[in-house]
Amino acid sequence: MAMAAVSIRDVAELAGVSVGTVSNVLNRPDLVSPTTRDRVQTAIAELGFIRNESARQLRAGRSRTVGLVVLDVANPFFTDVARGVEDTANAAGLAVILCNSDEKSSKEDAYLELLEEQRVKGILITPADGISDRLDHLRRRGTPVVLLDQRSTRRDQCSVSVDDALGGELAVSHLIEYGHRRLAFVGGPVAISQVADRLRGARIAMDRLGQDSELLVLSTAGLNVQAGRTAAQELIALPKSRRPTAAFCANDLLALGMLQELTRHSVRVPNDVAIVGYDDIDFAAAAAIPLSSVSQPRHQLGRAAAELLIEETADGGRHKHQQLVFEPELVVRESSAFRRRARTIA
Ligand code: RIB
Repeated sequence: MAMAAVSIRDVAELAGVSVGTVSNVLNRPDLVSPTTRDRVQTAIAELGFIRNESARQLRAGRSRTVGLVVLDVANPFFTDVARGVEDTANAAGLAVILCNSDEKSSKEDAYLELLEEQRVKGILITPADGISDRLDHLRRRGTPVVLLDQRSTRRDQCSVSVDDALGGELAVSHLIEYGHRRLAFVGGPVAISQVADRLRGARIAMDRLGQDSELLVLSTAGLNVQAGRTAAQELIALPKSRRPTAAFCANDLLALGMLQELTRHSVRVPNDVAIVGYDDIDFAAAAAIPLSSVSQPRHQLGRAAAELLIEETADGGRHKHQQLVFEPELVVRESSAFRRRARTIA
């Protein structure tokens, strides 16, 4: 026969204190003397009491969780960012509910509905396609939202991001400096603002060269290794006279897919095709041909976003919204360290 759940009243009786004192031991232990706290903890252990979180949520109005919605949980970039979020949330006594939108607005929307039902304290999100209506409604109904990895265009919304246009410019300027004139940008969908900003930065660098340069955009359906392999096949299929001698990829997964497929087709990296990625995930340096990449401060992004969210949930109306922008850094490795002699697009 199932045992009746141990109630907070049972704990109070065994410890010889009021229910309010037991509640303080659970929620505000600093208000209770050490001896009383020990007596209550002993009773909790003896009875095997487990707090009823959903009942507490109903009373308190909010759970002790925050939602984190990322584009691709299989991308080490987001794993590193999530680590920064979790370290900060955990230090504040909060748990993180990790949601993977798979770069799909429909899946993102379903998760946002679930997170609101869970009464999360707040939401950190990398939107798949701009600020959705649901996200706006959530904020208007009192759930703080911090954009992660995308800059907010509104001053009443916190965001933590990297200057991705500068990142794209750094990557392509480096390839130009190494003598490349016919380049490819590999990435998509451009509905993801990080991708659009990186392409914009690439074009800024190319425009400095004027006519004597060409940027071929190889759009991809996603930002993963398979999409990188597919882009490499498209590049290999071009006649040699039209084939770019360098590719700037919107993230490292695309770059690693390209690297693998080009090598499989005996295309030499960097001598035939130089490659630069974005994120500088740990696998970039560990690749068979170490990958040049534009580094993002991943753990710091997660930590800063979580700090802003926790501050907003604590300070309410007094909170000053911030749009923090970090600078990317180019890390040059073997995959692009080959200086071409030719100074024309031929
Ligand atoms: O998932 C999309 C990409 O955007 C990630 O690889 C990372 O670069 C993020 O900024």
